[in-house]
Amino acid sequence: MTEAEARTQAEAMLKRMTLEEKAGQLVQYFDFGGATVANPKAAAVDIDASIAKGEVGSMLFVTDPVRINKLQELAVKKTRLGIPLLIGYDVIHGLHTIMPVPIAMAASWDPATAERGQAVAASEARAVGINWTFAPMVDITMDPRWGRMVEGAGEDPVLGAAMAAAQVRGFQGGAIGTPGHVLSGPKHFVGYGASFGGRDYDEVDLSENQLRNIYLPPFKAALDAGAGNIMSAYMGLNGVPAAANKWLLTDVLRKEWGFKGFVVSDANGVNSLEKQGAAGSPKDAAVRALDAGMDLAMSVPSVVSPMLSLVDAVKAGEVPESALDTPVLRLLEAKYRLGLFEKPYVDAKAVPQVFDDPAHREVARIAAERSAVLLANAGGLLPLDRAKLKSVAVIGPLADEGHDMLGPWVFSSNKPVGVSVLAGLRAKLGTGVNVGYAAGTAWPTRKNPSFFDAMNKPGEHPSVDEKAELAKAVDLAKASDVAVMVLGEAQNMAGEFASRSDLKLPGHQQTLLDAVIATGKPVVVVLVNGRPLSLGDARPGAVLEAWYPGSEGGNAVANLLLGDANPGGKLPFSWIRSAGQAPYTYAYLPSHQPDSADKRYWNEDNSPTWPFGHGLSYTTFSYGKLAVDRASVKPGEPVTVSFDLTNTGQRAGDEVAQLYIHQRVGTSSRPVRQLKKFARVALAPGETKHMQFTLTADDLRYWSAVTRGWVQDESAFDVWVGGDSKASMAATFTVAK
Ligand code: BGC
Repeated sequence: MTEAEARTQAEAMLKRMTLEEKAGQLVQYFDFGGATVANPKAAAVDIDASIAKGEVGSMLFVTDPVRINKLQELAVKKTRLGIPLLIGYDVIHGLHTIMPVPIAMAASWDPATAERGQAVAASEARAVGINWTFAPMVDITMDPRWGRMVEGAGEDPVLGAAMAAAQVRGFQGGAIGTPGHVLSGPKHFVGYGASFGGRDYDEVDLSENQLRNIYLPPFKAALDAGAGNIMSAYMGLNGVPAAANKWLLTDVLRKEWGFKGFVVSDANGVNSLEKQGAAGSPKDAAVRALDAGMDLAMSVPSVVSPMLSLVDAVKAGEVPESALDTPVLRLLEAKYRLGLFEKPYVDAKAVPQVFDDPAHREVARIAAERSAVLLANAGGLLPLDRAKLKSVAVIGPLADEGHDMLGPWVFSSNKPVGVSVLAGLRAKLGTGVNVGYAAGTAWPTRKNPSFFDAMNKPGEHPSVDEKAELAKAVDLAKASDVAVMVLGEAQNMAGEFASRSDLKLPGHQQTLLDAVIATGKPVVVVLVNGRPLSLGDARPGAVLEAWYPGSEGGNAVANLLLGDANPGGKLPFSWIRSAGQAPYTYAYLPSHQPDSADKRYWNEDNSPTWPFGHGLSYTTFSYGKLAVDRASVKPGEPVTVSFDLTNTGQRAGDEVAQLYIHQRVGTSSRPVRQLKKFARVALAPGETKHMQFTLTADDLRYWSAVTRGWVQDESAFDVWVGGDSKASMAATFTVAK
């Protein structure tokens, strides 16, 4: 159904609705009751009865198609108007078939890969009756202590915007209502990634300069790509909780951007206004959120939704009934556009066929291969030479853990499975190569348990005799041609409620790594994680960043290690040396002492271990013939930058060509470098491609705190093109009237 048709239908429905029915549409509950998760805290609201009474417009956290059909039936058949439910869920990187985590997808620097992955995720979700995902997470972060870095695209707004738009396209298909797709809700609006100390949920203070130039652009890109929903953040932004932040939810979102979809709060975001000191009662919270521009309140059913108290607020004359009409219309419109009135139910029996579609695993494997980043490869240790390989020592507490390949947003109810690196290598190498295994060390226990653990069912990490395990790993390495060490963070060490105060390898992995390196055998480290980690003083021969690579992780890693896939990913963040450097970005402002820019700490340089955009390949590339088409352009005019990119090695491979600019003079200081364009290019050995990037006026403007608006200054600009943010091939052009 088109937007206009949906609008007409929604308006007609609205006319038939009572005040109580309108309030009911603004309510969303977690389904902790019913047939899925038993939670004694959920007792306050009888979900089934509330739906039947018309007091619920949407549900979340239910994935059992039989249960979803039941909920829809209650809404459709038991209520006077028969309005179906929006069914939302965190389909962040897959439902059953798990894709590489979003930070990994960003590392592919290939929006098409992210789009394909989310299209698969959407099809699995829609098959069970989910019609809306709380994704993509488009929060920029410069602070890897924050556990949710894994869910986003890293530190850069241009890469972040490209990934945001691609994921929306993947989830929604061509338009809202495309069969086999779901509504997409970018989150968390806005600034969540800049929380104090990288601590999840803590407050955020961001200048309008930072918001406009860095944190808001990925949201704008997601909405421009057609996203039908947006989720507000939890925390206070500049003193005002995001769920009651009228500047954000109305001035920016509606008045400036013209967003027509609906806004949902984060979990209990409206109720929490009371705890956050921004409302005096649930009713007050609902009134304030509504006034700020909130449409739907996501709540745990341990208390009755505050949105229902809007009925009293209207009756008491505190809010006009018409104030409910706008959000109700937006929500109804989404339901019409999604086709829920025509087809509220799913065929539960058809689900296994969708889940087990081999094409889904194929998309996941290719995405994992394309996401991997080869961080170091001394002496061309990788790819391993299969012809000469007789024995491999696979070592590390994550080596034999399929579940840990999956990353944070997985739930055991959806039966996700993951192939471990050990299993992937064994399957690939067959019986001709001796593949030994030692965990090498035990897994540390989490200090502050997470409520997610019960739903994720983390892999049982065996408790082992540390000393004996270490000795076993060392002996195994000594007896093998090469050691492949799978190190990093377990599945639940990243994501929500998983911030860390340091970036060291957890537990005793550093000791293990140092001991295996000390054997003198070649060591390949495969990292499984969602943030930069320090390897201490260890210098393994090769480091392959696999991220949480998803269901096909082990197979993808095996292909990469053996050279059947060539790494082409690049870092979507600066790989800092230690947590003490956070927050960090390559795109910092020039200081009055640029010559000492890397010397800000007494004890060490502040350059990262690996820069933003870094990533190696099994082949080599060279850049040349950089040219700008015009030395000077007028404000508003485009400038085209061209160059040659050549594969100078012996293998086919992908390179991500990156273009950075620096505006020398302006109404504000501009960053020393800013990514503006990129392209992932496949090149055969010896092949040269002539490349062009066109910088438009939009690429050259920024939001100025001086004029308090978007400006394009007259200035000279530096341009660099190359394979990372340290690219040295340079040119200049000028913007002048
Ligand atoms: C998270 C959101 C998520 C929601 C529903 C919240 O705690 O911050 O990202 O969508 O829960 O699961």
